[in-house]
Amino acid sequence: MTRQILVTSALPYANGHIHLGHLVEYIQTDIFVRFQRLRGHKVAYMCADDTHGTAIMIRAEKEGRQPEQLIAEMSDAHQRDFAAFDISFDHYGSTNSEANRNVAHSIWAKLKERGLVAQRAVPRLFDEQKEMFLADRFVKGMCPKCRAPDQYGDACEACGATYPATELIDPRSIFTDSKPVLKDSQQSFVTLAPLQQTLTAWTQDSGALQEEVANYLKGHFLDKPLQDWDVSRPAPYFGFEIPDQPGNYWYVWFDAPIGYIASTVEWCAKAGGDADDWWRNEDAEVVHFLGKDITYFHTLFWPAMLHAAGYCLPKRVHIHGFLKVNGEKMSKSRGTFVNASRYLDFLEPGWLRYYYASKLGPKIDDLDFQSEEFVGKVNSDLVGRVVNLASRSAKFVQDVGLSETYPEDSGLFRRGAEAGEAIAAAYEACDFREAMRRVMTLADDANEFVERAAPWKLRKDPDKAAELQDCCTVVLNLFHQIMIYLTPVLPELSAKAGALLGSDMDQWSASQEPLSGREVRKFTHMMARVEAAKVEEMFTPEAPEPTSPTIDKEPLADEITIDDFLRVDLRVAEVLEASHVDGADKLLQLTLGLGGDVRRNVFAGIKSVYEPAQLVGKMVLYVANLKPRKMKFGVSEGMVAAAGTDGEIYLMSPDIGAKPGQRLH
Ligand code: MSP
Ligand code: ZN
Repeated sequence: MTRQILVTSALPYANGHIHLGHLVEYIQTDIFVRFQRLRGHKVAYMCADDTHGTAIMIRAEKEGRQPEQLIAEMSDAHQRDFAAFDISFDHYGSTNSEANRNVAHSIWAKLKERGLVAQRAVPRLFDEQKEMFLADRFVKGMCPKCRAPDQYGDACEACGATYPATELIDPRSIFTDSKPVLKDSQQSFVTLAPLQQTLTAWTQDSGALQEEVANYLKGHFLDKPLQDWDVSRPAPYFGFEIPDQPGNYWYVWFDAPIGYIASTVEWCAKAGGDADDWWRNEDAEVVHFLGKDITYFHTLFWPAMLHAAGYCLPKRVHIHGFLKVNGEKMSKSRGTFVNASRYLDFLEPGWLRYYYASKLGPKIDDLDFQSEEFVGKVNSDLVGRVVNLASRSAKFVQDVGLSETYPEDSGLFRRGAEAGEAIAAAYEACDFREAMRRVMTLADDANEFVERAAPWKLRKDPDKAAELQDCCTVVLNLFHQIMIYLTPVLPELSAKAGALLGSDMDQWSASQEPLSGREVRKFTHMMARVEAAKVEEMFTPEAPEPTSPTIDKEPLADEITIDDFLRVDLRVAEVLEASHVDGADKLLQLTLGLGGDVRRNVFAGIKSVYEPAQLVGKMVLYVANLKPRKMKFGVSEGMVAAAGTDGEIYLMSPDIGAKPGQRLH
């Protein structure tokens, strides 16, 4: 029976390039898709860029561009990377499209019609100078958990904690540096409680989820009433404005998964067909692939939206783990955070496809890229065991072709054909590791046959020409069978095998019947071996631009006398108070104590590096007899001594024991 399967990969964010971690997902999905096509099913593989939200706004602003320009460029870059790795999307859209806006509007209307949208006033941070509510990324302050300074309103980069922006200590607007106030904002929520039963049944009993995922949802979310989901964000926000709520936008995670449907709508407009035939048809199957970090968006919110809006629930959500490199989290500084384009500068895409396939099981475990294992698997499995079958036989039958009838092979081909169903079952279960293991067992049997038959010896004896042709006919057929099984993983290698033997390689069933009486093309190079040094080079952090020593940038000053030096009155001072200055980007205001009642007010350009709270009680060096300077914010009486510039400023402080008021000489 022909199945109709719509497959998706998660939509990559438009604020960064595709890296080796992403590729775990896109390669995995593509293998599944190509497998289903090879089995003769009707498949649609949909993806798009995820373009909305504050991260993209901030990046665009930093780069001085419009978000639209940034996302257009990123979409091109993403699609170029995916194409290089042979990811075969049927359509690649964008969440910032008219199609997506339309589908989002229609789903919203349905949610409202069913009484699943609630409005509530929620206190949010408000910048009074700019007169606007502040999205999480527009506030910075001290982490409420670990007290690290300068953290965004949603999560702390120092300790990983997440929290509502209202919990930040000493929050500041990133626009005006003013202290935001709490103000009620009208927010829209999707009510999930009425869908609790549907979601429980779907997650626990439908078979759509891996067991560990179903258990996680039961233990963490479904064991208590589901909370309402806050889906609106106040302007400024890069996204779609909510139709009945001017000034409010859908939160990026509301319209992101809708992009799966919108992409289908665009594809149908182009290729024919009707998106409802994929999304509202109980006979069709929707299968989502995604990483474990975005599980609950796809297993609670998204099915809730689908169900409420009259779409079918996904038949399967397949969740995978995260990529590590040589046992550790990918890291920019260690050089293991490798973009797709960098990988291509050093290594072949097919190698990664096979390596990932050989590592991917049906569970959500993390996957470790181990350099030595990568080299070993490619060189010994692919080149040594598979490609070698062709390179050791094809050249001997280039003139005569394959034998007229398939020769006696003591059951080798038949056993390979019978293994097909188990291999197919492994692919279907996303147990690609098991599929590869089984294929390599077949390759081992084939190699054993070659060793025993030794065509290179037969060739030397003119009386054994027929035997040689039969021997090579068997080997090339086993190679062909194996390559059919590997087609989902290695489409390019498979095409080369097909060209050699005049086979289309587009049907799984071609693995069941041997080829005979046909031409064999000239054998050309099929796949190179990996050099270990290349892998190492790829993972070596790029050397930073050589910088000249500091002393070269700022040469020593002209000579002065001791009297010249003593004209500068340098004193030890204690910071008694320190605070931010309203409206100033760089300055902190310091009250310095010089002993007794002597105090000085100084504005210091050290805000980028120091938090006021860190400074109170600190001893510093103070230039006491500098002419006071009138500034926008008040009079600065002298200055504190510091080394460095901009992001790298170091205050000078005396050894322990120095007293306020002591003079330097
Ligand atoms: N934009 C969201 C998805 C929206 S889907 C409606 C997003 N984007 S992402 O670019 O951060 O990630 C895209 C996919 O790649 C996700 O499924 C994510 O889990 C996966 N991966 C991102 N980094 C990964 C690794 N280091 N390892 C494995 N998969 C990773 O999430
Ligand atoms: Zn923290």
